[in-house]
Amino acid sequence: MTHQFDPGYVEEPFKSLCEDYPGPDVYPIGNFRVEWGPIFHRGRLDGSARVLLIGQDPAQNEAIVRRILVGEAGQRIQGFLAKLGIDRSYVMINTFLYSVYGSVSAKNKKAAGIIEYRHRWLKALLAGQKIEAVIALGMLADQAWKTWCATPDGQDVAVTYVPITHPTQPESAADGDKEKLRIATKTLLSKWNAALQTLHPAIQHPDRVQPLIPYGEAWQPGNKIPIPEIDFPPGLPAWMRESDNWARRAGADVNAKRRNITLTVPKGLVPKL
Ligand code: URA
Repeated sequence: MTHQFDPGYVEEPFKSLCEDYPGPDVYPIGNFRVEWGPIFHRGRLDGSARVLLIGQDPAQNEAIVRRILVGEAGQRIQGFLAKLGIDRSYVMINTFLYSVYGSVSAKNKKAAGIIEYRHRWLKALLAGQKIEAVIALGMLADQAWKTWCATPDGQDVAVTYVPITHPTQPESAADGDKEKLRIATKTLLSKWNAALQTLHPAIQHPDRVQPLIPYGEAWQPGNKIPIPEIDFPPGLPAWMRESDNWARRAGADVNAKRRNITLTVPKGLVPKL
């Protein structure tokens, strides 16, 4: 059996973007988990992407596999793209290169160094490329897109743009309350259905032409899709892309939790001795 993998940041302008990225002088260590390094993207960098997604910031799974949107949020988004007939022709970046620690201050939202670097990526992915639709996940990504659109480079790009509710917003809003989670999930899925109605006709070159099948009122089997092997560096074990709860911030206090991520291979994969 052969395996597909992401060749990485070998071609320009992505090589230079990964050689020269902002550090703690731009992303303050008190507000971002700079100690886990920058995590740049996921998806096609070879010009074949038709859909660009903008997420928020990487979490613990992303810190391990060095690609963005690979956990619960990423697998929900993979399902959303599949409804549009997109299995491969996408690329994703986050609003922030590092994991947010606490909440994002107004100062960090407007920080010139953060915005300038993000705009270098947006220009690389959009100018003269084949992107037909841009999807922002959540409010910070929506702001990031609008900031780019106000630049001369942004004004030159004509695409269909749709902001959607962040895939894990229901869990954040419900804070453990099951009924709140049910209602927030129903609301998200209804808004995602409206977004699909706009996006489906706007994507002229999907990987598969298929009728649009909307979401129900709750998550159904098949709505979450494993991340394709081709999105990862070579040799990544399948369980890291097929399940999502294998990495946890661990420790007795906030300092320990910043310094530790515990990885656990799912049950059933290791023979009992
Ligand atoms: N992981 C990411 O990389 N981005 C998000 O927005 C959420 C999870």
